[in-house]
Amino acid sequence: MNDIEAALEELRDLGLYRSTRLISGPQGPQVLLDGRPVLLLCSNNYLGLADHPRVREAAADAAMRWGVGAGASRLVSGTMTIHGTLEERLAEFQSRESCVLFGSGYLANVGVISALARRDSIVFSDALNHASIVDGCRLARAETFVYQHCDLDHLAWGLEKAPPGCVIVTDSLFSMTGDLAPLSGIVELAERHGARVVVDEAHAIGAMGPGGRGALAEAGLEDRVDVITGTLGKALGSYGAFACASSEIVAYLVNVARTLIFSTAPPPPALAGALAALELLVEQPRRVEKLQANAALMRAELTSAGAEVPAGRTQIIPLVIGDAEATVAVSVAALAHGVFVQAIRPPTVPAGGSLLRVTLMASHTASELTRAAGVIAAAIRQTRMGFASADPGESSKKKRKRSRDDGDAAVAHAA
Ligand SMILES: Cc1ncc(COP(=O)(O)O)c(C=O)c1O
Repeated sequence: MNDIEAALEELRDLGLYRSTRLISGPQGPQVLLDGRPVLLLCSNNYLGLADHPRVREAAADAAMRWGVGAGASRLVSGTMTIHGTLEERLAEFQSRESCVLFGSGYLANVGVISALARRDSIVFSDALNHASIVDGCRLARAETFVYQHCDLDHLAWGLEKAPPGCVIVTDSLFSMTGDLAPLSGIVELAERHGARVVVDEAHAIGAMGPGGRGALAEAGLEDRVDVITGTLGKALGSYGAFACASSEIVAYLVNVARTLIFSTAPPPPALAGALAALELLVEQPRRVEKLQANAALMRAELTSAGAEVPAGRTQIIPLVIGDAEATVAVSVAALAHGVFVQAIRPPTVPAGGSLLRVTLMASHTASELTRAAGVIAAAIRQTRMGFASADPGESSKKKRKRSRDDGDAAVAHAA
């Protein structure tokens, strides 16, 4: 057995092996999964815009007008008119002076954080920040201070000892736990300590705030942070990403952010699709209200069906199961009844914190959600009973799994 085979074998043993599933057709509320119709409850296409006729048409027209690729990095020959148009519209939407596009949200976070964090400074990062932020911290030449999730006291304690010019970075709406960062507390601490703030609004734009402008807009803080990153790949239904900031910071990113400088610019059809989605969002804010109503309904239905739903209000609902294999078993049991909800395991979540991540779309109907809540709650109950009645003696496989999981927790964020 070679080292790759051994690594794959170990992942299988630990219940952490992953493979992709084939969805035929667009990302609607109902999809064909491996040829079978199922209700999709794990997509980030929150507003259902990925296959909206206007979005499709805009992408198709852009392909005919500008072709499918940008041909080069933005700084070589990759900046095209559609890049400029979308950047202007996004800056306006976020009430910021300027905006620059990146190839994806992953690339935006890695590029922005590594550019802003100077060698002799410190990046303060929430323990549950997205992997792209973790990797941005790793690429930065600054030290990283990981503060406990949403813990302002821990952040304040770290900042007391920090040199000026540090960077605080946080998701606004956390991708796996569906909770919200204490943004006003973070901004106040940053202002007191002269730190810059980067907020990743990947899951909040299109999902909350006035007209879907995000969590910062909801809190009236858009102009009190230094950089807002966001993706075009979730509520805006496309692919690509952006950073909104002052003109000075955007000029700095264009000159310094390695993921922008050394990567091909995002393709015209994806950008034109995102622009059409943004226009739809501005014209029809009721989509955001429908998403929020669906989130409230699903939280209530899951609770009354007997699932443990953490307090919250967003469209991301984490149902923590704990054990990785048990979480996969619940997902499989729900799928057998036509409900596709994904099991999220380490290293995406900390060890022992495997969960079902239920995500809503504005295009789900109330009856779909009521039925799905019953299916998911029943799948959790059955799986828990099955695991409880299994041999209580801990197998060597499980023991190895525990020790491996403990290791994962220790290294989750630190470089
Ligand atoms: C909080 C957060 N930021 C950034 C990203 C990356 O965005 P993209 O999918 O555009 O690379 C994700 C993706 O899941 C995310 O959840």
